[in-house]
Amino acid sequence: MTTTQDFVHVFESATALDAPTLLLLHGTGADEHDLLPLGRALAPGAALLSPRGKVDENGMNRWFRRLREGVFDVDDLIARTAELAAFVEAATATYDLDPKRIVVSGFSNGANTGAGLLLLHPGLVAGAALFAGGAPLQGREPAPVDLSGTRVFLGNGVADPITTIDQARLLAAQLGERGAKVRTEEHPGGHQLPPQTVARAQEWFERSDF
Ligand code: MLT
Repeated sequence: MTTTQDFVHVFESATALDAPTLLLLHGTGADEHDLLPLGRALAPGAALLSPRGKVDENGMNRWFRRLREGVFDVDDLIARTAELAAFVEAATATYDLDPKRIVVSGFSNGANTGAGLLLLHPGLVAGAALFAGGAPLQGREPAPVDLSGTRVFLGNGVADPITTIDQARLLAAQLGERGAKVRTEEHPGGHQLPPQTVARAQEWFERSDF
């Protein structure tokens, strides 16, 4: 049985009444502390649940294995995403969170993992704000799940050499075809999260009324 002990994590209670929960998934080489400032900026007052990826790639934390940069071990991604989904369910019970008001946010490897949660575990989260992420299953077509009611913000750089803009647009299409309401925000930069993209995501989060 999965418990909250299964992932090293930080949990910060909501500081606002009736606030949603933000699940934060860091990028390669970061840890559970990395995205806390982003979480506080994106969703002021929300509860923050920020685990640490369990895959060790030469000392760098990740969420799933990759064969090389840009080539994922998709079976590992599927297995690890299931484990993470079970952790989120355990944390929902432990911290008494509203399971209908969990929003995932991630950067890079964390964004790919958040996209995996959306496509492989529909209904786990109400929405997602993903940055520098792409289509996580790579060559595989995701199942025709129903994502209607799921609201997604995708922030990507058109000059990103790691997650190409084509990968980001493919993810947007996969989510949209499955009924998600997708807002895409393309910036001129690379594999990064520029302040103006954070600002657009903040506005989106506020309007989404999670
Ligand atoms: C990945 O998931 O491998 C990302 O796209 C790239 C990275 O995390 O460095």
